[in-house]
Amino acid sequence: MAKELGVDLGGLEVRRFPDGEKYLRVLSEVKDQTVAVVQSIHHTPDELLFEYLLLTDALKDLGAKRVIAFMPYFAYARQDERFKPGEALSFKTVSKLIEGVGTDEIYTIDMHQHRVIKSSEAFKIPAHNLSAMPLLADYVKKTGKLEKPLVIGPDAEAEQWAKVAAERLGTDYDVFEKKRLGDAHVEVRPRKSSAHGRDVLIVDDIISTGGTIVEAVRILLSQGARRVEVACTHPILAPGALAKINSAGVQDVVGTDTVPSPISRVSVAPLIAEQLRNHT
Ligand code: R5P
Repeated sequence: MAKELGVDLGGLEVRRFPDGEKYLRVLSEVKDQTVAVVQSIHHTPDELLFEYLLLTDALKDLGAKRVIAFMPYFAYARQDERFKPGEALSFKTVSKLIEGVGTDEIYTIDMHQHRVIKSSEAFKIPAHNLSAMPLLADYVKKTGKLEKPLVIGPDAEAEQWAKVAAERLGTDYDVFEKKRLGDAHVEVRPRKSSAHGRDVLIVDDIISTGGTIVEAVRILLSQGARRVEVACTHPILAPGALAKINSAGVQDVVGTDTVPSPISRVSVAPLIAEQLRNHT
């Protein structure tokens, strides 16, 4: 991103003390500067979130004028409500911490927002949720393996992404109905369209256990789909997920680099760089 923008990449020293505590030192001059902090909160979210908090607090203390947070993958967004009595409202706690260290503005990418419709409702600071779906659709178009594909969102929330991808690919879309039966088990039902004889692109925000995608693929293939590809923004990929998806009969799976993974072939750097360009 720094390369794309032609700006300096700030230096940091991050390590652990022998007792396990985190040590962080800012190596660049930040006084009166606007600083963009990019921290994707994935896989070890507690550690990465804490690094972010240490860093932003230090930047503000060292005189940074503004800190703009870019959190390409924002963990804890799913626990935004108390589903069982006594549960911690993790999303609220995390947003309070981020604001508390002096973050001036925050950008996320395809943040999981089932109940919170707008990021601005979840934060007191200016908050923006960008989408990587146009970049993913462009990638699928460029690889050119799908002919006028039917774009499928595996649940109601995915309609927003299916719509964008379909528009970009000049084709039609539909969404399935999904019922979650457990952490790794879902039931997916088609609505109106049939994939018979069609190429299909499934789009979603997250692939975690792969359960959702595998169920959707099963239905699409049973309807007679010709070729099925999958594109997601955040390839969290729990152990075994990719193998499960591949053996379900998917021809290609692509994700972005909001989460590093073997399928992270689309970079969100241009998306973030564009926002920063508009800031300067
Ligand atoms: C949930 O609503 C999300 O949009 C994804 O569909 C979900 O997180 C995927 O999880 P999994 O891969 O475990 O089915």
